[in-house]
Amino acid sequence: MSGMRPTGKLHLGHLLGALENWVALQDKYDCFYMVADWHALLSEYARPGPVKGFIRECVADWLSLGLSPEKSTIFLQSSVKEHAELHLIFSMFTPLPWLERCPTYKEQLQEIKGRDLLTYGFLGYPVLQAADILAYRAEFVPVGKDQLPHLELTREIARRFNKLYGSVFPEPQAILTSAPKLLGLDNRKMSKSYGNFIALSDSPGEIKKKVLSMITDPRRVRRGDPGHPEVCNVYSYHTLFNPDKIADVEEGCRTAARGCTECKELLSAVLTEMLAPVRKERQFWLKGKRIDEVLEEGGRRARSAAGQTLNLVHRKWGW
Ligand code: TRP
Ligand code: SF4
Repeated sequence: MSGMRPTGKLHLGHLLGALENWVALQDKYDCFYMVADWHALLSEYARPGPVKGFIRECVADWLSLGLSPEKSTIFLQSSVKEHAELHLIFSMFTPLPWLERCPTYKEQLQEIKGRDLLTYGFLGYPVLQAADILAYRAEFVPVGKDQLPHLELTREIARRFNKLYGSVFPEPQAILTSAPKLLGLDNRKMSKSYGNFIALSDSPGEIKKKVLSMITDPRRVRRGDPGHPEVCNVYSYHTLFNPDKIADVEEGCRTAARGCTECKELLSAVLTEMLAPVRKERQFWLKGKRIDEVLEEGGRRARSAAGQTLNLVHRKWGW
């Protein structure tokens, strides 16, 4: 079981960080992939409008990258009210200090600017996430490293429930991606709020413009200066997305046989080619009611699975 908040377009970082993993896991496990619209609203509550549009975009990206509605249950969090009930139940016995000391809570209060996040709901973000995961009694959760504190809390909540009322929940484990972290175009952390990323839906023109804007080796001032690929973000992108030609890119840089503009044009061509089929698939999925149908069917399956868990929970209480 895993989820993503629909707060913007998906980008290359999501591809390496999560989605490649998600696609591969479909063949080995019974997977539940969720668009976490309630989680998005916990920070975007003052302007819920755009979140709605991002839901469609998000599912379109997933499907065009190879998440399959036949293999996996793809659904919208808010269409499964069982998450809300479980969240409420968990909130009764989750001690406040567990939430207050959660490192992601403190970080996000600082990082997400321009919103008042000192709310009751936002403090409970990881409780809702625990409900998402435990509603399916999931054993594995493919996420990035940043989510490990939430997974730890999920296990603590599961343990506490099991101890108070009897065993219902497994203690889920993270499945981390081995992918190295991809920096943003400006060498800062890749982030929706910085806008420093290449989106999966970017056109060839946008890709080229963005790649040409990337920062290179600052010591390579003139065209004839030899470069140092180890400090260049363009080179890091080449290692991840153009591994077959990496020796050539490195040599071109070190010997100054290739200029930075040419090196970037090469990268831009590789990315454009890689994303072309994704763009095409995306257009297919965005037509008509296809995405609504996928979410409807996924919602049905998710409600049925989560409903069974809630039945177990109610039975433990004896009413
Ligand atoms: N908190 C996760 C993130 O920001 C999104 C999320 C919500 C999630 N519910 C989840 C991830 C359940 C895994 C499982 O990326
Ligand atoms: Fe970076 Fe390529 Fe320029 Fe070398 S040639 S500094 S790898 S952009």
